[in-house]
Amino acid sequence: MTDAAIAAAVEAVRAADVVTVLTGAGMSAESGVPTFRDVATGVWAKYDPMTVATPEAWEADPALVWAWYQRRRALVQAVQPNAGHHALARWASRADVGVVTQNVDDLHERAGSSDVIHLHGSLFACRCDMCERPHSVAVIDPDGDRLTPPECECGGQVRPGVVWFGEELPHNAFAEATARATGCDVFVLVGTSGVVYPAAGLAHTARDAGATVIEINPQETELSEVCDITIRSTAATALPAIAGTASG
Ligand code: OAD
Repeated sequence: MTDAAIAAAVEAVRAADVVTVLTGAGMSAESGVPTFRDVATGVWAKYDPMTVATPEAWEADPALVWAWYQRRRALVQAVQPNAGHHALARWASRADVGVVTQNVDDLHERAGSSDVIHLHGSLFACRCDMCERPHSVAVIDPDGDRLTPPECECGGQVRPGVVWFGEELPHNAFAEATARATGCDVFVLVGTSGVVYPAAGLAHTARDAGATVIEINPQETELSEVCDITIRSTAATALPAIAGTASG
């Protein structure tokens, strides 16, 4: 079953001029970064997103939020890109393959992908919560639950450069991702549950524009029904199998 799906995917990408890949937390799972919604190990199984990933949480307790994101930065910094990230980077170096990610880690870049579109921002791109000036921040793995965020010259506080619940996606990133979804021949979903919009809507956008939609995910998702090909395997297994044989 998986072999047949991979063969169908290989055929689809061989015939494609333009490929767009949308990645989610499952892309980095085999690197050791927990996903959000896994019932046992998921980030949101341990933490209520409302207490760490909303503007209200930041307003109420910035030190708690800052410590939480510093811990996530430290975790990401300590792991490595997996075979899926590497396969995608090599594939994009020889074909028109664009990467759009919901992930806030930097594992695509560290595997060699350039021009990655980050729909939900980045753990490593902090900015002032008042004047929006960018700040680079040293990664510290905090001992306790709270860590005071650095101060900006303007008197504001430095906040994580990620998109929180209730915030809008970066306008340019979403516009570019929509153009990539509309203009591709094949749209590949990797490791996303497809429940967070507007990112998940890109699969519908691609499908409506005529692309063949492929899903790589060990589990069925909310988006499985809009997919032409579903590969029930992991990112680190399926991406090398597809990308390694695709001419583009
Ligand atoms: P989720 O945690 O919702 O979904 C992860 C998906 O990855 C699930 O469908 C898993 O079955 C799948 N998965 C697990 N291991 C995998 C593997 N090795 N290979 C391939 N797939 C695997 O994560 P996202 O869909 O990325 O947003 O979540 C979307 C957004 O919700 C995140 O960007 C984040 C979160 O709240 C914000 O923080 C704004």
